[in-house]
Amino acid sequence: MRTNFSVKNKVAVITGAGGVLGGSLAKHFISQGAKVAALDIRREQLDVTVDRLRSAGGDAMGFVSDVLDYKKLKTTTRQIVDQWGTIDILINVAGGNLPGATLREDQTVFDMKLEDWQKVTDLNLNGTVYPTLAMGRIMAEKGSGSIINVSSMAAYSAITRVLGYSVAKTGVINFTQWMAMEMALKFSEKIRVNAIAPGFFIGDQNRAVLLHPDGSLTDRSKKVLARTPMKRFGDITELNGAVQFLCSDAASFITGIVLPVDGGFSSFSGV
Ligand SMILES: NC(=O)c1ccc[n+]([C@@H]2O[C@H](COP(=O)([O-])OP(=O)(O)OC[C@H]3O[C@@H](n4cnc5c(N)ncnc54)[C@H](O)[C@@H]3O)[C@@H](O)[C@H]2O)c1
Repeated sequence: MRTNFSVKNKVAVITGAGGVLGGSLAKHFISQGAKVAALDIRREQLDVTVDRLRSAGGDAMGFVSDVLDYKKLKTTTRQIVDQWGTIDILINVAGGNLPGATLREDQTVFDMKLEDWQKVTDLNLNGTVYPTLAMGRIMAEKGSGSIINVSSMAAYSAITRVLGYSVAKTGVINFTQWMAMEMALKFSEKIRVNAIAPGFFIGDQNRAVLLHPDGSLTDRSKKVLARTPMKRFGDITELNGAVQFLCSDAASFITGIVLPVDGGFSSFSGV
């Protein structure tokens, strides 16, 4: 059998497409001939992404959408299916840390505001679950599709200051395994659910903790690089191949896995 990495003509929905990693994935999928429905809660950033996709000659639609608004997600799902007939791929990128949910150096866990804990766990866990339920139903009905969730290194071992984010990204791994099982057992082996666990990439949500305003490294990012055998941050384009592979027929026997894209961070003890 010929190995097929193609996502040409597939309908791909990408949440958080106005952000750094989601925007890069959207651009990549367009360059590979996929149709992209870009979702983001921030209209301005979404418009920038969609303009970029269209000026690259791509077939793209944009939806201002909150991944925590299940009712609106169902409406958006209908609109995408009305326009393009189906949904083949869902990439759940929306998420990230929230300033209030990041403990300062001088705080302990007992200073954590429960409302910030609630917000960050909601965004990263339910913000993956709700789009999966809304769009995954289309895949269940037709018996094929691929869902990619985004976890984090914070799910592998404890990272200081970001408790809610870490717990939610660990939940994303379990949800990935659970949905992989459910889809294959109850619907079709052709519906696969996998996750990636990015190492450290400079995004809007972590720029301030990794870089000083003049672009120099913070103490935290020096620690990150000390634990990264490749001694650098990831380039945002370096997620593209991993995600495309998992979405393609080349990964037809792969479901329920988490693929680290991390320059070796998760496999290195630091010693
Ligand atoms: N940058 C990294 O190093 C890194 C590492 C591991 C995991 N991640 C994960 O990758 C994903 C993308 O990160 P990024 O660095 O591109 O961050 P980003 O902040 O650039 O992008 C996140 C996007 O999600 C959108 N968003 C936030 N809340 C939303 C909501 N309720 N509904 C819809 N959209 C919403 C934001 O508007 C933003 O455009 C996140 O899930 C993040 O946790 C990032």
